[in-house]
Amino acid sequence: MDMPTRNPRLRAWVQEIALLCQPDRIYWCDGTKEEYNRLMAQMVAEGRAIPLKKRPNSFLFRSHPSDVARVEDRTFISTSSKDDAGPTNNWIAPDELKATMLCLYSGCMRGRTMYVIPFSMGPLESPMAKIGVQITDSPYVVCNMHIMTRVGTKVLRALDEGADFIPCLHSVGAPLEPGQPDVPWPCAPAIEQKYIAHFPEENLIWSYGSGYGGNALLGKKCLALRIASAMARREGWMAEHMLILRLVSPEGRQYHIAAAFPSACGKTNLAMIQPTLPGWRAECIGDDIAWMRIGPDGRLWAINPESGFFGVAPGTSYRTNPAAMEMLWGNVIFTNCALTDDGDVWWDRMTPEPPPHLIDWQGRDWTPDRGEPAAHPNARFTAPTAQCPVISPDWEKPEGVPIDIFIFGGRRATTIPLVYEAFNWDHGVFLGATQSSETTAAIIGEVGRVRRDPFAMLPFCGYNMGDYFTHWLQMGDRLGDKAPRIFYVNWFRKKPDGRWLWPGYGENSRVLAWMCARVDGKVGAVETPIGLLPRPEDLDLRGLDIPPEDLQELLRVDVDAWRAEVSDIERHFAQFNDRFPQRLREQLRGLQARLEAG
Ligand code: GTP
Ligand code: SPV
Ligand code: MN
Repeated sequence: MDMPTRNPRLRAWVQEIALLCQPDRIYWCDGTKEEYNRLMAQMVAEGRAIPLKKRPNSFLFRSHPSDVARVEDRTFISTSSKDDAGPTNNWIAPDELKATMLCLYSGCMRGRTMYVIPFSMGPLESPMAKIGVQITDSPYVVCNMHIMTRVGTKVLRALDEGADFIPCLHSVGAPLEPGQPDVPWPCAPAIEQKYIAHFPEENLIWSYGSGYGGNALLGKKCLALRIASAMARREGWMAEHMLILRLVSPEGRQYHIAAAFPSACGKTNLAMIQPTLPGWRAECIGDDIAWMRIGPDGRLWAINPESGFFGVAPGTSYRTNPAAMEMLWGNVIFTNCALTDDGDVWWDRMTPEPPPHLIDWQGRDWTPDRGEPAAHPNARFTAPTAQCPVISPDWEKPEGVPIDIFIFGGRRATTIPLVYEAFNWDHGVFLGATQSSETTAAIIGEVGRVRRDPFAMLPFCGYNMGDYFTHWLQMGDRLGDKAPRIFYVNWFRKKPDGRWLWPGYGENSRVLAWMCARVDGKVGAVETPIGLLPRPEDLDLRGLDIPPEDLQELLRVDVDAWRAEVSDIERHFAQFNDRFPQRLREQLRGLQARLEAG
């Protein structure tokens, strides 16, 4: 076999996987534009992709209706001891899981091409960068990886020189018999055949049966979060489900903010915020993942390991996220959006009125009276980070940016106020550990159910979540007075009639400005049982038309509702048994005592 690398481990692995999966041919990706164009042209010719007349070099894909989001029920952390995966992860013993998956992988690439994708998460010259090699039988995945990661021969050269890599094996799980026609979106038909498996003890990823998003683009959730979080704990750094943003005040002072919200709860939107507060501006550094380590100055420095956005399409509009709309002018892969009659994409709430006729995400005629969304609620765009008009000139700095502020948050219609600040680091870790949100279409399953999603990492922590809490406490001990300040937000409060209480999007800058003033000791806050809240007069609301009673509701601490939260938090914490840190138990007792007193 002819291989463009000297790296002995890589050569052996590719050989082994080729023997196992039996592809018709093997192709090593070089990451060039020509390669991307060639694969796209081929997918257009095969009827898998639709070129968009209205956007240069942009294509629409429609997935199989069963393969539209991450499959959390089929995601596994496979450690030798079940306790090391912890109560919040699905677990199968490595031997058993590998035996099952080896059967599935056997011959699974028959009739297909096996692509080998050398990629880097983070700029290669960054001390934080990590190299992965993904093997896949999906050309759609190859093109997405081109955008989302740094693919190419530079990575191969680093591997030649002996760089380590994380092997990422992926198959859509749909071998072709001789003469069997292919389908536009091959995947394994049955949910029980899908496995998104992680072996953190050997930094290995095996994914089978799905071609969609985080199930298949293995650099993202699998490598940069699940495997990286386990590495980060061992090595003393952090891999988090966080956007990174630089906010600049009218005086020109820079604040770096990292925010963890669960899937489809506003990271991309906040990352590209265009502040409505006069004089403030923002630069985007990343929208989904932050890798952070303590720098020589003792502060926490963050890089964005990705090079593209895999963003939620529905809800994106010139009103809500103009930067994203501008970014999507061309060179974009759209998945499960609707198609307009003049050859463009459309999704729910993109324009105030839908077009009179569309082809929906399943290829069917659609008119507004149909009463169902034309795009799938988890329809996505894949776009290069560099195309974002508000991208920071420093987004690829190898050392990253120093974080001043952490924000946790979620989607809660009631109870949780618009914003509050933690009393101190341990209390901030408690806020992260108790984060809660209503589930969204980003995962297969029920939408709108409130669940605890600690640090927005419930589906992404590659080890026991109890140990993860301890890791956060220990990072705080090491950072001391250089630790970022911690806040909690909820942009998603609703009125009884279902309308939003807070306008959100660009107006969220008013909340961010309060945080910056808190960091600088320039603004007040009231002490409440749950944390430090702004008084209405502490928020700069000039030019915003919001009824005083709405603001009061947004900043109200509902003590009875919070007592109910406490019972739920007790149940949530109990599952971690002896892995649960005493310091968080003390935080819970503190909250209880303050609620009783209040
Ligand atoms: P993942 O890519 O799944 O990790 O999602 P994300 O956290 O980046 O979420 P994103 O910014 O894509 O937002 C998801 C949905 O929430 C979109 O439909 C947005 O329009 C909506 N959204 C984002 N920010 C706000 C806000 O401030 N207020 C309201 N009401 N909706 C928002
Ligand atoms: C998420 O679900 O948090 C995403 C989308 O960012 S996916 O890459 O599919 O996981
Ligand atoms: Mn995400």
